[in-house]
Amino acid sequence: MRFFVLLCMLSATSLFAIQSLTANAAHPGPPWNLMPVPAKLESGSGQWIVQQGLTISLSGVDDPRVRSAAQRFVDHLSHQTGIPLHYLTAEPDKATIAIRCERAGEKVQKLGEDESYKLDVTETGAKLSAPTALGVIHGLQTLLQLVAPGPQGFAAPAVHIEDVPRFPWRGLLLDSCRHWMPMEVVKRTLDGMEAVKMNVLHFHLSENQGFRVESRKFPKLHEMGSGGHYYSQEQIKELLAYARDRGIRVMPEFDMPGHATAWFVGYPELASAPGPYEVETKWGVFDPAMDPTKESTYKFLDKFIGEMTELFPDEFFHLGGDEVNGKQWNGSSQIQSFMKSHNLNTNEDLQTYFTQRVVKIIQKYKKTPVGWDEVLTPDLPKDVVVHSWRGPESEAKAVQDGHRALLSNGYYLDLAEPADKHYLNDPLGGDAAKLSPEQQKMILGGEACMWSEMVSAENVDSRIWPRTAAIAERLWSSVDVRDVDSMYNRMEVVSERLETLGLTQHSALHSMKERLAPQHLYALRTLANTVEPVKGYSRSGTHKYSTDAPLNRLPDAVPPESIEARKFARLVDRIVARTASEADIALVRDTMIDWKLNHDRLSPALQNSLLTEDIAISQNLSAAATIGLQALDMLGSPSSVPTGWADQQMAQLEPMKKGQAELLLMVVPPIQKLVQAVSK
Ligand code: ACM
Repeated sequence: MRFFVLLCMLSATSLFAIQSLTANAAHPGPPWNLMPVPAKLESGSGQWIVQQGLTISLSGVDDPRVRSAAQRFVDHLSHQTGIPLHYLTAEPDKATIAIRCERAGEKVQKLGEDESYKLDVTETGAKLSAPTALGVIHGLQTLLQLVAPGPQGFAAPAVHIEDVPRFPWRGLLLDSCRHWMPMEVVKRTLDGMEAVKMNVLHFHLSENQGFRVESRKFPKLHEMGSGGHYYSQEQIKELLAYARDRGIRVMPEFDMPGHATAWFVGYPELASAPGPYEVETKWGVFDPAMDPTKESTYKFLDKFIGEMTELFPDEFFHLGGDEVNGKQWNGSSQIQSFMKSHNLNTNEDLQTYFTQRVVKIIQKYKKTPVGWDEVLTPDLPKDVVVHSWRGPESEAKAVQDGHRALLSNGYYLDLAEPADKHYLNDPLGGDAAKLSPEQQKMILGGEACMWSEMVSAENVDSRIWPRTAAIAERLWSSVDVRDVDSMYNRMEVVSERLETLGLTQHSALHSMKERLAPQHLYALRTLANTVEPVKGYSRSGTHKYSTDAPLNRLPDAVPPESIEARKFARLVDRIVARTASEADIALVRDTMIDWKLNHDRLSPALQNSLLTEDIAISQNLSAAATIGLQALDMLGSPSSVPTGWADQQMAQLEPMKKGQAELLLMVVPPIQKLVQAVSK
């Protein structure tokens, strides 16, 4: 029996209904945990069981990326299954995995280069063919995702997949400036990106808080602007090669004219006020900005951009352009008279003048400029790509003005939002939905943004992953693939996979919790599983944060989204809707009993420690669970409800929803639902 499923014409719900029916009826194979969901998938019968002695053949064009992807595939498969596998070759008609790459890819990976692939899994193995190495890289990741444990061992279901991304630009911004991100962090981030088929690392390399690349032309940039934390040019080349091997372009960003204090430490003459300057240690928007009126600024930038465009081969070069407060410009009589004599009436006009000059320099080096949406003014040269962050409107506006655009508004990982919020944010939603099909093609895709004020190298993986996998799916898969429950189910499995690949989103947080409560880890984890860091930029109430502030407390050691709280809420929804099974109800009861008892268990660890600030939230968990258990009992025997009980409990629960010690107790709203159900 074979189903032909055109995924782009089906919602994910019906897709997975078909898949699970298929799995149950025809072959009780492994679950399908593909993320991103492929464009087209035809389910076959039977499965390929991973066994020792697996062989690989490579045919078609000889691209070194294909060979290294195949080698990584064998290593990962071995790691993922625990089966010792070696890179053994065979002829294409005999090999377990036959890979064919039709043509040589571009020397420098290009936007819009063909990334498609076809994958056939049968009982004897797999055939993967792709026009370029990029498709091979993506197809091998799909095959790895298909392999799952089953009764006969690790196996992939028989399947025919034809896959192609929806958007050509699927990026992740990594900010190595606010907090330094060592080489191994960047490399494992690239590994994670490869696993979910993302193809652009937007590397944010200069800021108020640090200048992170060696400049041989202007060595005081990295020598005085980095505190010793910068990538040498050799290291950059190593990262570029690592990214290329994984089908990922690297676009550098050198933010100007604002966000540039670290440049001014070594070169104060670039700034609009005399200085001296120090590398900034606090967070926020600061006054220093480049002086757009001096020719020497452009001479400097010409030489610098010349050097950096040679180092970074990508076609695109991000010039920043965001958040200039104009205070230094207002305060300089020389800049004010320049503005008068050049008919520049506002600071925005002055910034447009600056942007136009810098754009010319970038173009002189045969690169395409990209800028944050502040650069979008009527006189912006049309080939500048506009990067939408302040709101989604600028994306459609940019396209209407003749620019290509990228969406990051809605994909800010630092806001600690749940994955579904990002997942349902579509580059072609909002105003962009009203654009013509031709105009919509000008929207290249989007980028998740990992700004690093509140993350360190230690916990950055837990902020990027697994939520970025949901964004990766939004940017790769059909617009109709938007079933949130399916996404969460698959994201959980993908997250475990990423950890076996070497990412540390679970293990690092585990170690951090172990450090906080070495003798009460179970109790701390019980509390930690029910909370999330406060959202947005509100983590500054109690503690003052800066570049050197430790990020070692409970809000740093829990993921931005509590999957446990989400699951609890779903179970409660079923109880309230009277669709819960006995097992669901028992699970909710057992969970709340555990929470009720937890404060006493955790108490010793809460005394005189970094966790002391969490006493109130720990007490609240136990108190909320006590109320929840009563509500559950009363739902079973409604006649026992005293008058006014529900109102009193709601009043007691309400303040528990507020942030405490920079944490939110996520299980309070579902417990309130239980209480409200009692009063109905
Ligand atoms: C930005 O978040 N300032 C681009």
